[in-house]
Amino acid sequence: MTSNNSAVHKAVIPVAGLGTRFLPVTKAMPKEMLPVVDKPAIQYVVEEAVNVGLNDVLMITGRNKRALEDHFDRVPALEATLAEKGDTSKLQSVQSTSNLGDIHYVRQGDPKGLGHAVLRAKQHVGYEPFAVLLGDDLIDARDELLSTMIEVQAKTGGSVVALIEVEPEQISSYGCADIIHNGEDGYVRIKELVEKPAPEDAPSNLALIGRYVLHPAVFDVLEKTEPGRGGEIQLTDALQVLAAGQGEGYGVYGVIFRGRRYDTGDKLSYLKACVELACDSEDLGPGLRAWLPGFAASLDK
Ligand code: UTP
Repeated sequence: MTSNNSAVHKAVIPVAGLGTRFLPVTKAMPKEMLPVVDKPAIQYVVEEAVNVGLNDVLMITGRNKRALEDHFDRVPALEATLAEKGDTSKLQSVQSTSNLGDIHYVRQGDPKGLGHAVLRAKQHVGYEPFAVLLGDDLIDARDELLSTMIEVQAKTGGSVVALIEVEPEQISSYGCADIIHNGEDGYVRIKELVEKPAPEDAPSNLALIGRYVLHPAVFDVLEKTEPGRGGEIQLTDALQVLAAGQGEGYGVYGVIFRGRRYDTGDKLSYLKACVELACDSEDLGPGLRAWLPGFAASLDK
């Protein structure tokens, strides 16, 4: 675990969504438990938080929470068997997940949207800035994002979102940001946020991805936020209020991320993420890379 001198100590990971894009696999299993190479997606996300010193992790869970909790729990019988066999590498991989941070759970109840899920963290977080990481959005461990966002939050005192540039026709799948200036300090100020606009109505091609560092002022705003798009309480709508208003904790800033990101929430992106990450993996990479060109060539026949 990394020591942490910043004001941000807590990570909130909402995992209570229904995962309808990934049915039927998500009928009885959270999409965050889908394996990406040899770890469930959620493990990458918890590791990312812990790597920047956010050792206090709160998961907002739902009906299918069992597998998630079990994954981060100890399994004494399995550990004893592996120890007896002297299989230290497997033993280490089993133990590493139960030693990751200090993980807490709260249920969302009804999945009424991402904003509603984040509001469930109010009591645990208290009045301090905190990070939100979406469990189906993976950021490559070799690329920095969260630590930069934490620095920007400390500098600005507001809330910080992560943005990527997308093709204009893709913007309707994301929250979209209208920025005030193209920041030279590595971040931009956000004038307006719109949830999933049609391409012709989008103010930019800057799309929100699943990392936020939020001022606790967001909780008061979320309490007053009415259901928006899709009948859900949208985090983007609350951030729009913070972006447009003034006062302590108001102001929303964006860090534009140009590193490697993998979306595991939809089927095709998930498959691409698995192939990309497996190609980079030390043990599976060589075999997969050797097989892929031949397979790709066979597709043209
Ligand atoms: P998504 O919109 O990607 O999740 O929410 P979803 O609703 O599960 O997915 P689809 O569209 O039906 O396939 C982003 C994140 O917010 C969480 C999800 O678990 C996901 O990590 N979420 C969403 C909640 O925790 N609660 C909600 O009510 C909605």
